[in-house]
Amino acid sequence: MWIYFILLIVQLFHFGCGVKLGTCYQDGNCRLPSCFCGGKSAPGNLEPSEIPQMIMFSFDDAVTGEIYEMYEKLFSRGRLNPNGCPITMTTFVSHNFTDYKLVRSLFRKGHEIAVHSVTHRTPTTFWKQASYNQLQYEIVEQRSIIAENAGVPVRNITGWRSPFLQPSGDIQFTLLQENGFEYDSTLTIATEKGFSAKRWPNTMDFGWQLDCNVLPCPFGKYPGMWEVPVQMLEVGDSGNGCLYADSCRPATMEEAFQLFWVNFHNHYTGSRSPLFFTMHPSWLREEHNMKALNYFFLTILHYYHDVYFVTYQQHLAWIKNPTPLSDILRFAPWKCDHLRYEPETDKDGNGHNGVSSISNCFPYLFLVLSTFPLFYTKIFFDKYCLLY
Ligand SMILES: *[C@@H]1O[C@H](CO)[C@@H](O)[C@H](O)[C@H]1NC(C)=O
Ligand SMILES: *[C@@H]1O[C@H](CO)[C@@H](O)[C@H](O)[C@H]1NC(C)=O
Ligand SMILES: [Zn+2]
Repeated sequence: MWIYFILLIVQLFHFGCGVKLGTCYQDGNCRLPSCFCGGKSAPGNLEPSEIPQMIMFSFDDAVTGEIYEMYEKLFSRGRLNPNGCPITMTTFVSHNFTDYKLVRSLFRKGHEIAVHSVTHRTPTTFWKQASYNQLQYEIVEQRSIIAENAGVPVRNITGWRSPFLQPSGDIQFTLLQENGFEYDSTLTIATEKGFSAKRWPNTMDFGWQLDCNVLPCPFGKYPGMWEVPVQMLEVGDSGNGCLYADSCRPATMEEAFQLFWVNFHNHYTGSRSPLFFTMHPSWLREEHNMKALNYFFLTILHYYHDVYFVTYQQHLAWIKNPTPLSDILRFAPWKCDHLRYEPETDKDGNGHNGVSSISNCFPYLFLVLSTFPLFYTKIFFDKYCLLY
């Protein structure tokens, strides 16, 4: 009798917990454009040399006047991808303190507006335990608030990131799917010794197949729903990584530049898996971080014709339709014909639209010594600069 009872319990337990996710086989039980297993292999079986190196910047929290100015400097007019379209980023917008006029302006410049909750409340356990109704308010209401106040069509707001990267398990993914979101970017991949996992995003057709770094991860399957996990940045040889760039604390501009450069170098010379820089704009209040990022943009835009700064949406569009570099100029989702520029005020009266406050000079030695910057795994700055 007892033994049956125990067996029954074991079976129930097994049934309840052993949700069979199944194994994802690309081009077998999972096919693009609606299903992608993710992981280390590139979509479309492209060779690294055929893959545009995609770099995605994402910025979280409120869009305020001060922060908008930083975006204006970094993504200033005239900074173009090799296809002639503006470099773009994704901002996950929370409600408090956000100026929606500025959100509207970012959207009109081609940036992606995604959702990051109404209240962004503490403690983080709120998000861990959030009920369906609570989370519905945070996700769906914030999308409506953005749509109404910034004039961004609901159909163009397709991404969500939970505050503090604290997942809410299956409730979160159920809600996102029910409400027509295309992707989540909350789950994190922790790696040993802080190496970048260098993984491609995946659809959730076979669930979340990796270890759960921050509980609770979803157990269920969400066909067609994308997960764009937050991946660690490597910090040189120090053996520490960081999920948000903010938690790497470079002390100087050189160190901050290395953070961008080392990660770019490793991706570009490796598999060309997508490179994500995840941060809070407040990190850029440190002048040396802002300068380093500005140099990074200038360096990449100057030297590379196969590197693209795109939004998460544009990145997913490429995975769905993996287009080799030889055809990339014709790739429609990266075109920008729809962008209508609003006239900008010439704030400092010298034709630079207020951009001149940030130095546009290159590391001099770097520029004269080599037309092959990849030769350098580290780039040292010199006091001399060439104006760009
Ligand atoms: C939103 O900002 C106001 C100040 O403008 C503050 O009083 C309030 O507590 C904030 N709400 C949340 C949820 O942080
Ligand atoms: C907005 O969404 C529509 C429909 O998905 C799409 O055709 C359009 O290109 C999107 N606009 C932007 C600016 O992303
Ligand atoms: Zn946040």
